[in-house]
Amino acid sequence: MSNDIRFFDLNTGAKIPSIALGTWQSDPGVVAQAVAAAIKIGYRHIDCAHIYENEKEIGSMLKKLFEEGVVKREDLWITSKLWNTDHAPEDVPLALDRTLKDLQLDYLDLYLIHWPTPMKKGTQGFNPENLVQGNMPNTWKAMEALFDSGKARAIGVSNFSTKKLADLLEVARVPPAVNQVECHPSWQQDKLRAFCTSKGVHLSGYSPLGSPGTTWLKSDVLKHPVLNTTAEKLGKTPAQVALRWGLQMGHSVLPKSTNEARIKENFDIFGWSIPEDLLAKFSEIQQARLLRGTTFVHETCGAYKTVEELWDGEI
Ligand code: A2P
Repeated sequence: MSNDIRFFDLNTGAKIPSIALGTWQSDPGVVAQAVAAAIKIGYRHIDCAHIYENEKEIGSMLKKLFEEGVVKREDLWITSKLWNTDHAPEDVPLALDRTLKDLQLDYLDLYLIHWPTPMKKGTQGFNPENLVQGNMPNTWKAMEALFDSGKARAIGVSNFSTKKLADLLEVARVPPAVNQVECHPSWQQDKLRAFCTSKGVHLSGYSPLGSPGTTWLKSDVLKHPVLNTTAEKLGKTPAQVALRWGLQMGHSVLPKSTNEARIKENFDIFGWSIPEDLLAKFSEIQQARLLRGTTFVHETCGAYKTVEELWDGEI
């Protein structure tokens, strides 16, 4: 295997940079500096979403970096995501336009359906009582129109189980290019990964460090002995090992940080690799989904009554 896994191929013919700066839970007051630091370090991919409530700040910084000649638009890969309240086909293009306005861009490299769980138009927050029944084939048709228009150069989904992705592929005229899901050494997504590979859908891994800053998760992914032993043997940090493991498994990784030293650390994942004998140990790690999506299920309101239904048993 080449040591330099800088890009992965998408079914659109585009090459997606293998590491992105994640921006979930990056406060608006610090996200712009994080984006600037990342781009100066060499990141070329920023993972955004309307619901992260920081796209305006990211957009202002991107504009500044373009004006200063730090990076060119065509050398960057910008992803964003359609929020749950905008799944109605007529709302999909308006949501993309709002995100483009906030990011001060005229196209996205990738636009994803953030969750397969529509919510009542215009509602705020994460109240499960705002969940509604949706019509995914119709939402996807509206996404396809954005792809046709060129405003979204690739389209895809996020938080789709193997079954939900398979159902979408049955009706899609433009197949999704990406399924962005939780993925790290303690939630390796073997079944979904194999399905994605067989269908030419690229898997992007969010929370690739196991989201250690999300206090309600009590994550200890980076503390796992397999990661720590590997890190010691290779002279790397557990975070670098978790990210490099992702690249070697064939998926892009989206680590979030607003700390310049950690943004730099997380980018130092090229030019070395985890040897096969150490990589084999990762299959012994006990598996558990961290982000279960409990706020996106409701006994009566939503499309899915339980987390088992949301993930079609993949929990
Ligand atoms: P911070 O922003 O202060 O660096 P994930 O991408 O899996 O969701 O993880 C993001 C969390 O991990 C954030 O809390 C982030 O905090 C922290 N983090 C980012 N990079 C590292 C690293 N190299 N080592 C330890 N923690 C990290």
